[in-house]
Amino acid sequence: IALLIVAIVAAYLLGSIPSSVWYGIGYFGIDVRKHGSGNAGATNTFRVLGKRAGTVVMLIDVLKGWTATCLASMLFYMNEIGETELLMYKIIFGIIAIIGHIFPIFVNFKGGKGIATLLGMVLAIHPELASVCITIFILTLIASQYVSLSSILATLAFPVLSWMGVFGHPEPLLVVFGFTMFILVVFTHQKNIGRLLKGNENRVNIFAKSKA
Ligand code: G3P
Repeated sequence: IALLIVAIVAAYLLGSIPSSVWYGIGYFGIDVRKHGSGNAGATNTFRVLGKRAGTVVMLIDVLKGWTATCLASMLFYMNEIGETELLMYKIIFGIIAIIGHIFPIFVNFKGGKGIATLLGMVLAIHPELASVCITIFILTLIASQYVSLSSILATLAFPVLSWMGVFGHPEPLLVVFGFTMFILVVFTHQKNIGRLLKGNENRVNIFAKSKA
């Protein structure tokens, strides 16, 4: 139980690492929270600091979710626990990392919207489904130029595809987890949804040249 508590704290601290803020201030002397959408996430880092910085931040954030989720396998590799139980722990650790990313202890609990960290988590839990979600994200982004809409639709695709049993028998845990994440993502994207409805959400052209 002590190890479980340590792992939970570790997952939260890992998720809390404010990569966009630290990288922006440390490397460029620019706080991404004061520019663009003001969000401490990979998308806004792309927007404010360019492709290279955005990619670095995105990779770190994906890694945070992936590592936190894999903590479950590390913690229980000696124990004989069932597959469903292990999946449950992966989901718990992953969600804690996402909560850490959204409410990070290191920067006054004002973090990002959780998408890259969620991606790392689903890559660790179900890489095939994750790949389909990434494809939906990219296609929506190309068609609409809205990162927020692409994030929301890709997040929704996860529970819907799990429910439909696209990759084998539907796993109820994944469906419940996926819909819970969708609600969380709608919550973190409230301002984006407002702008999308008004038609003044930021657009990005992924084929455009970036400054860095
Ligand atoms: O991953 C966050 C993205 O969906 C929206 O970010 O900066 O446009 O609010 P942003």
